[in-house]
Amino acid sequence: MGNLWLVGMMCSGKTTVGGRASEARATPFFDVDRLVELRAGKSVVDIFRQDGESAFRRLEAAEIRRLADDSPGGGGSSGGGGMVVSTGGGAVLDDRNVEAMRRTGAVVWLDAPVSALAARVAGEERPLLAGVDAPRFLAEMLDRRRPMYEGAAHYRVDADRPVSEVAAEVSCCARIAVGGASEILIGPGLTSPLLPRSSGREQAAVITQPGAMPAARRVMDRLRAETDAVLIEVPDREEAKTVGTLGMLYTRLAELNLGRHDTIVGVGGGAVTDLAGFAAATWLRGIESVLVPTTLLGAVDASIGGKTGINVSGKNLVGAFWHPSRVSVGLDTLAALPEDLIREGAAETVKAGFIADPGLVELFTADGMSFPLAEAVRRAVAVKAEVVSSDFREAGRRAVLNFGHTIGHGVEAACGLAHGHAVSVGMAAAAAVSADRYGFDPGEVLLPLERLGLPTRIEQADRAEIRRLISRDKKRTAAGLRMVLLRGVGDPVVEQVDEDALEIGFSAVGVC
Ligand SMILES: NC(=O)c1ccc[n+]([C@@H]2O[C@H](COP(=O)([O-])OP(=O)(O)OC[C@H]3O[C@@H](n4cnc5c(N)ncnc54)[C@H](O)[C@@H]3O)[C@@H](O)[C@H]2O)c1
Ligand SMILES: [Zn+2]
Repeated sequence: MGNLWLVGMMCSGKTTVGGRASEARATPFFDVDRLVELRAGKSVVDIFRQDGESAFRRLEAAEIRRLADDSPGGGGSSGGGGMVVSTGGGAVLDDRNVEAMRRTGAVVWLDAPVSALAARVAGEERPLLAGVDAPRFLAEMLDRRRPMYEGAAHYRVDADRPVSEVAAEVSCCARIAVGGASEILIGPGLTSPLLPRSSGREQAAVITQPGAMPAARRVMDRLRAETDAVLIEVPDREEAKTVGTLGMLYTRLAELNLGRHDTIVGVGGGAVTDLAGFAAATWLRGIESVLVPTTLLGAVDASIGGKTGINVSGKNLVGAFWHPSRVSVGLDTLAALPEDLIREGAAETVKAGFIADPGLVELFTADGMSFPLAEAVRRAVAVKAEVVSSDFREAGRRAVLNFGHTIGHGVEAACGLAHGHAVSVGMAAAAAVSADRYGFDPGEVLLPLERLGLPTRIEQADRAEIRRLISRDKKRTAAGLRMVLLRGVGDPVVEQVDEDALEIGFSAVGVC
């Protein structure tokens, strides 16, 4: 997981809020001014007085570079817990600082009005304010720096509120990299601007589905300041992922004369992000895409990892690996989802915990459907990003993401269960097989699933049909029937399994 960098004017609350955010995320906290003082052996005031502002800026830039290089994202990976860093008001004046911060984490601008800044600054010793009319000076400074804060930050947070509110909003912001291919930005709303910086962009085609229309309108509002944008609505759910819909979409893109430097933006659940991603992968042999997932499943799973595609007679049979340059996850949209969509997405969210993050599983065991959304999304995205980064084209390790999916896919197709529910049954079955092979305690999987109200058994299943569907899946993988098993929570192993193992899984979930 990347860092959280706080930028903003002096006295906007970066140090206080940063301290709170680091406590909430249980990550280290650094204040760049304090680091400069430690390194220089004197106070910021003395550095300004004795050595001048440019000497201070050099020291500040060196500390920011050091923190960026030391951070997990510094080398382009996504692992680690990141840190929270509060920077000085002028850190954004140097483009290299901005580049280092944006490359290694989410940059959040604490925006407070001059009146609030002036009230807080009174009585403090600030080198830049010595002997000047503070409110006037601050107003002029904010005018000058506003475009720089806007340009540097992924998120703007209103800092003219109680510290606890500001800290809560700041704490949920994150940037997680998928190798050097994609960045996933998680925040209270959409990132601002929505599109990554690039030159020569003329227009964006925004693709959405009926259920995501309110979110798509917010995207259109945001894009208005960035580029020309056209909204294209496609049919709901799997109807979006048909050859017919894709053909219609290509026709619209041709009418728009969408060019190589333009962008396809997918706003919706996994069906839309799969379709939009595939359109982007194939239009003019590949153009940039940005995804705005609006379901929990889309946010923690479908929009991450670069798999795109449509259905032809079977699910996802036509597709391409194509990484979106940015995924913007707005927690406001996810928090407003109907309960059934949250529950379904929670199945894939807790799955990420089973394969790689026991602490994530604990959130569901403790709180069931009242789980902390921001933390769960951040942790699940970090798991998927890390797994994908280690295996971009699904040569090996990425298979652990299929935990619960071997039997789950059979149950989904045979019983018409929603994907998340079928995967939940599949995970319960895989837990039983894991118990048999490794002495794993199946309760570790069953308890959080039950707390979420997800099914762990299925009555009246057509056993023969499920078996047929599973062996059809098997034919596609030369290696034969494989399952992801758990030696412990966070310790998965992908194994060849035989008929006996399948029997154990079936009986555990009531398929008999
Ligand atoms: N590419 C991948 O790696 C990957 C991974 C997992 C799943 N998928 C794909 O994702 C799809 C399933 O994703 P899904 O469950 O998000 O389905 P979906 O896109 O079909 O959306 C489900 C429903 O939610 C509605 N909806 C969307 N946003 C909403 C919102 N904010 N509020 C209310 N309703 C909203 C939609 O209109 C739809 O009716 C499948 O096609 C699956 O193959 C892809
Ligand atoms: Zn799945």
